[in-house]
Amino acid sequence: MRTVEITAFGPAENLRLGERPVPQPGLGELLIRVAASGVNRPDVIQRLGHYPPPPGASDLPGLEVAGTVVSGDGAALAQAGLAVGDRVCALVAGGGYADHCVAPVAQCLPVPEGLGDVEAASLPENYFTVWSNVFDRGRLKAGETLLVQGGSSGIGVTAIQLGKAFGATVLATAGSEEKCAACVRLGAQHAINYKSQDFVAEVQRLTDGRGVDVILDMVAGDYVAREVQCLAEDGRLVIIAVQGGIRSELNAGLVLRKRLTVTGSTLRVRPVAFKGAIAQSLRTQVWPLFAGGALKPVIHATFAAADAAKAHALMESNQHIGKIVLTW
Ligand SMILES: NC(=O)c1ccc[n+]([C@@H]2O[C@H](COP(=O)([O-])OP(=O)(O)OC[C@H]3O[C@@H](n4cnc5c(N)ncnc54)[C@H](OP(=O)(O)O)[C@@H]3O)[C@@H](O)[C@H]2O)c1
Repeated sequence: MRTVEITAFGPAENLRLGERPVPQPGLGELLIRVAASGVNRPDVIQRLGHYPPPPGASDLPGLEVAGTVVSGDGAALAQAGLAVGDRVCALVAGGGYADHCVAPVAQCLPVPEGLGDVEAASLPENYFTVWSNVFDRGRLKAGETLLVQGGSSGIGVTAIQLGKAFGATVLATAGSEEKCAACVRLGAQHAINYKSQDFVAEVQRLTDGRGVDVILDMVAGDYVAREVQCLAEDGRLVIIAVQGGIRSELNAGLVLRKRLTVTGSTLRVRPVAFKGAIAQSLRTQVWPLFAGGALKPVIHATFAAADAAKAHALMESNQHIGKIVLTW
C-alpha cells in the first residue's frame, strides 16, 4: 500500500510517500480501502516528535479515514450491521495516512447520508472528541451556554454545530475577524476575536454577568484562570489541549463558591470499548442530523496524499477554517 511516512521528526517536508505491505485485520477489526484521510493538529505534533502513538498503534500518522470495507472479522461486521463493500468512516489510533487502513469495527460508522469521502474523512476525530468532552464530560444540556475556544479549528467548527444542534447557545473565540464571521455563520450566537478583545469581559457582557455553563478549552496555560472567571455557577471547564502551556493557576475560591468542575481528556489512548460506546451515541443521536442539514462538514482544503507536507504547512500557518483532508 502507499503511505505517508514521517521520515524523521521535524518540519513538514519530512513527510514523504512510502510503501508498506497491506495490514491484515484481526479479531474485531476490518480493512478499509482508504479514499480520504483527515488531517488533525495531533498529526502535526506527532510529526514534530511530541506525540508518540500509543502502544500497539501504527507509527504512521493519521487518526481518521473514509473509504470502502475490503475484508474483516465477519462476526464483528455482522454485529455492527456492516458488510464488505460498505462505505465507512473510522477513528483510528494511527495509520490513517495510507491507502489501506485497519480499524476496530466498533470505531467505524457508516458514511452519513449524502456525504462524500472527503467530508466523511473529516468527521471521526472531531465528532468523537467533541461528543465525549462536551456532552459526556461537560454534560452540556439544551438551554445552557457553551464557550468554544478556537471556534474555527476542526474541533471548534464541530463543537459550534453540535452545541447549537442540541439546543445550547454557543459563544466562540477565534484569532481574526474572518474566523469570527465563520463561527457565526456556523451557528455561534457571537464570536470574540481573542487577539483584539478580552474574552472574559466579552463573556460577562454577552451573558449579562451570568457566565457560561461549559467551556471547551484547547489552550490551557493562562486561559484557565480567566476561564474560571467566565463560568456560571455549577459551570464545567473541559480541557482538551495545552497549546498555551501545561501550567495554570486558578482561583480556588471561585471553584468552591461557584461549585465548578475542571476536567479534561485525550481520546487517542482510550480503549476500543470506550470509543465504541461513543460511536454508538454518534450513530443514533448525531449521524441522522447530517441528512437534515443541521450538521455540515467544513472542508477548508484537500490535498493529494503526495502533498501531505503542504497540508501540514497549511495547518501550521493557522490560515485554515475547519478541516484539511488528504485524498488517495
Ligand atoms: N484531547 C483530545 O482528545 C483531542 C483530540 C483532537 C484534538 N485535540 C486538540 O484540539 C486542538 C484543535 O485540534 P484541530 O485538529 O481542530 O486543530 P486546528 O484546526 O489546527 O486548531 C487549532 C486552533 O487553536 C486555536 N488557538 C490557538 N491559540 C489560541 C488562543 N490563545 N485562543 C483561542 N484559540 C487559540 C487556533 O485559533 P486561531 O488560528 O484563531 O488562533 C486554531 O483554530 C489541538 O490543540 C489538538 O491537539 C485534542
